[in-house]
Amino acid sequence: MTGSTDTTAQDRVVIFDTTLRDGEQSPGATMTHAEKLEIASLLDDMGVDIIEAGFPIASEGDFNAVSEIAKASRNSVICGLARANFKDIDRAWEAVKHAAQPRIHTFIGTSPLHRDITQLSQEEMADRIHETVTHARNLCENVQWSPMDATRTEHDYLKRVVEIAIKAGATTINIPDTVGYTAPRESAKLIEMLINEVPGADEIIFATHCHNDLGMATANALAAVEAGARQIECTINGLGERAGNTALEEVVMAMRVRNDIMPFTTGIDTTKIIGLSRRVAAVSGFSVQPNKAIVGKNAFAHESGIHQDGMLKNAETFEIMRPADIGLTETNLVMGKHSGRAALRAKLADLGYELADNQLKDVFVRFKALADRKKEVYDDDLVALMSDASVEAGNDRIKVKFLRVICGTEAPQSADLTLTIDGEDHQVTAQGDGPVDATFNAVKALVPHQARLQLYQVHAVTQGTDAQATVSVRMEEEGKLVTGSSADTDTVVASAKAYVAALNRLLVRREKSGHDGKEIHYQDVS
Ligand code: KIV
Ligand code: ZN
Repeated sequence: MTGSTDTTAQDRVVIFDTTLRDGEQSPGATMTHAEKLEIASLLDDMGVDIIEAGFPIASEGDFNAVSEIAKASRNSVICGLARANFKDIDRAWEAVKHAAQPRIHTFIGTSPLHRDITQLSQEEMADRIHETVTHARNLCENVQWSPMDATRTEHDYLKRVVEIAIKAGATTINIPDTVGYTAPRESAKLIEMLINEVPGADEIIFATHCHNDLGMATANALAAVEAGARQIECTINGLGERAGNTALEEVVMAMRVRNDIMPFTTGIDTTKIIGLSRRVAAVSGFSVQPNKAIVGKNAFAHESGIHQDGMLKNAETFEIMRPADIGLTETNLVMGKHSGRAALRAKLADLGYELADNQLKDVFVRFKALADRKKEVYDDDLVALMSDASVEAGNDRIKVKFLRVICGTEAPQSADLTLTIDGEDHQVTAQGDGPVDATFNAVKALVPHQARLQLYQVHAVTQGTDAQATVSVRMEEEGKLVTGSSADTDTVVASAKAYVAALNRLLVRREKSGHDGKEIHYQDVS
């Protein structure tokens, strides 16, 4: 067998992160190539045992991301997903084989509903599982097999196919609750049944993969572990299709805080949790709800008088874990306009950003500009600054050069906008129903497009009227989604920059798909 995960002790739970596969698969959460590489590197640093880096057959982009993540991997096993056919499996192997510890993950839907879709009888599907797992195992020593929709598969058939996969060489059997249908006791019973009744079960690791449609993904995963599963599949912030997957931070912290009743360990450095959570939120465009367990903005906030009083006397009164356990610093007031470059570099490193000298130079200019406008610069401000699309947008073809908006009680509002497009300035004035609408109309007047605006979201990064706003924009063109985000103390400027960031991504996507969008059909209305 391959990888550090194969000698798993009875109490060691393997953390399998699928933020870059199941998470990224959720509509609108697409990440760029560079972002995927960055997240993989952070996951590796945090101590994730296995990173499911993508679905290599899905696209050239997915393939390249998985193979580069494999090449750059340090400690984590790198896994690629494949359907139950040789072509998918070969492609997954081509991508992951560069990793020091590669894994192929192959799956097929085994429930009656899925057998209907694939039009395979139970016998035909059993044969397919035998052939494909054998093929994967001939390529790679570390093979994971999943009966998709396992929780709605007949138990006798599930036991039969799990046995076939084990005999064909699977080293991990993952039991997915694909539609988030199961409940904790049932989740535990299913794992128990498989461990007790499938021949060869003691030779392999059982994994649990839960979706959160009924809000039970964390409970179901932990129940499966209590019943004997030793791998949890999860994502940062619970990102994933529909209601998402089991959240990594929840299961890891639950096993740590309640180790008295769940005596399991993981290899996760929990102090890296908050940094990863923020980064995933920024690059996916899926912000974290304030009351989200562990990583929500309010998870450690104690507002009510009674709570504050208790906290001052003894933090344990209302805190079952310390903010520092997940990497939140006690006081996050950082710097002002007199802070120097070295202090900024050190603070950013603390927050999980290692910058090359040229990047630091650019970020320092932005930091100074922010410190000039804002009295106090907090950690959250710096995270917003770093996730501002324009920090990484050296190659962007469209840039916001100038924006002035005229607002008032009388509609319409108007926006005077200059965009630099492929190095040339273009100016327009447009009107709209409110300042953001006027600004977006101005962008559209200069760069006409058919993409539909699917989401426009604004968040105040900190408190106070001088707070920065982070704006996320999601657009859809021909079924493909792109996101853009930006931060500024001026909400309308942040909106314009987020919209333009999404447009830049749209152009990249068009170029990759050979669309005529290589040309920006801008309208010169100046
Ligand atoms: O939810 C699911 O069933 C999956 C499989 C591909 C493992 O994500
Ligand atoms: Zn899934």
